Order: sequence, then structure tokens, then C-alpha cells
Amino acid sequence: RTGVITIPVVVHVVYNTSAQNISDAQIQSQINILNQDFRKLNTDVSKIPAAFAGLAADAQVEFCLAKRDPNGNATTGITRTQTTRTSFSDAGDYIKYNSTGGKDAWDRNQYLNLWVGNLSGGLLGYAQFPGGPAATDGVVCTYTGFGNTGTASAPFNKGRTATHEVGHWLNLYHIWGDDNGACTGSDQVSDTPNQGNSNGGCPTFPKISCSNTPNGDMFMNYMDYTDDACMYMFTAGQKARMDAILDAGGARASL
Ligand code: ARG
Ligand code: ZN
Ligand code: CA
Repeated sequence: RTGVITIPVVVHVVYNTSAQNISDAQIQSQINILNQDFRKLNTDVSKIPAAFAGLAADAQVEFCLAKRDPNGNATTGITRTQTTRTSFSDAGDYIKYNSTGGKDAWDRNQYLNLWVGNLSGGLLGYAQFPGGPAATDGVVCTYTGFGNTGTASAPFNKGRTATHEVGHWLNLYHIWGDDNGACTGSDQVSDTPNQGNSNGGCPTFPKISCSNTPNGDMFMNYMDYTDDACMYMFTAGQKARMDAILDAGGARASL
């Protein structure tokens, strides 16, 4: 693909308390962060260690709040639904159905559905990979880990949960290969180092695992589990996977 693709987003705010009914400004802050991170316009690219800087990619994907709803009427790209449920989890996907205290998805062939609610158990977010059921397609984020203002709470207050989850939605795997610390798993990307397990917090470079000397883990990649302030890149290989899913013949080509 040459050029930038812009994906229309609908943000479904599902709230029990008024604090969970996050502001339009907080939602826009998240859209702005996605547009920085997927265009390599985030200011913290300057922190990428020199050994990895040449691998950092502009993914050439942008996001905008939808201007038309599925009926063709004008919309802000935000839906607001009050619920009697005090929290949600990934089990059952209740946040994604009107009938279970959530909000039905809009057509996944035209929109990225992004639900925001109160997730239980410390879950920051989760995503559905390409190829799954239409009704549950999209990304879910907890309201305290969304955008960089309002209810966003450190260390997950720089909008990187949505960046990470949209990465999954565009077919990216975790950088450590989801192998529980073994060196046998793979993220199916050739320019990310083999990495043992996930990293959390904010490691110091270099952090070695799986004999990946001298540069070690690419813990500053969005597809690791580090703090928002400590993740700031996708690679060219990750961009290639995203391109494949958005190109003709890919599961998200209609966007
Ligand atoms: N699915 C992951 C979780 O809930 C998201 C991790 C996002 N990481 C971040 N720094 N925001 O644990
Ligand atoms: Zn993940
Ligand atoms: Ca591994």
C-alpha cells in the first residue's frame, strides 16, 4: 500500500457512574494519540535506543471519529449508554450487546468499534483479531486507561492501551510470542528480537533474554506490556503485517 488510510471510529461509552461517562475531550485525546502513534508522530520516538531507531515505522494509519452513523445520519462518532452493570470483563463480551447491558457494534466493515467502560480485575483492555465474529469485532478499553486527560490514571494515562489493542485488531501479536517465557514463540515479525516473556514497568536498555545480545528485548514496542510512558514504537515488520490485513484480500480491506 502507498499512502495513508483513515479508519472511521465509533467510541461506545458504556457507563454506570457519571465518572465513567468520560468527556468528549478525553475521547478526542485518545484519537489524537492513535494518530500520533500510528504515524510515528509521537514525541517520545526520540527515546528509542539508537540500535532500534532504524526499525521504527510510520504505520500510515490514521483514525477519525465517524461523521455518519450506519443509517447515513450525522453523528459525533460517540455513543453513550447507561448501564446497570457495575463492571465488565472479556468473558461474555457483555459490553458489546444492548441485551447484556452494553452497546451493539456498528458495521465492522465500515468502522472500528471502540468500547470504553469499567473493566474488572485490572484488565486495561482487550481486542479481537481479524477473522472473528462481526458482533464482537473491535477493541475494549477501561475508562481509567483511555486518552491522557479526565479519568486517565498513571501509569496507563498516555493512551497506549488503545494503541496496543488496535495493534492486535490489525493482526499484531505480542512481541514476546505468548510462550510464557520460553524462547520458542514468535510474533511472526522478523525485525523484532526474540524475547522471553513480557516486560512490565519501565525497563532500562538493554534488557537481555533468549540470548538476544547485545540489544536485548524491544521492550519499548507497543506490543509489549510496559508502562504507557515506556512504549513508543512499531517496527517496519509490524507495519507489513498491518498492511497485509488492510490491503485488497485482507480481512479489513473494506475500511
Ligand atoms: N491487554 C493488556 C492488559 O490489559 C493491555 C496492555 C496495555 N499496556 C499499556 N501500557 N497500556 O493487560
Ligand atoms: Zn495484548
Ligand atoms: Ca518468548
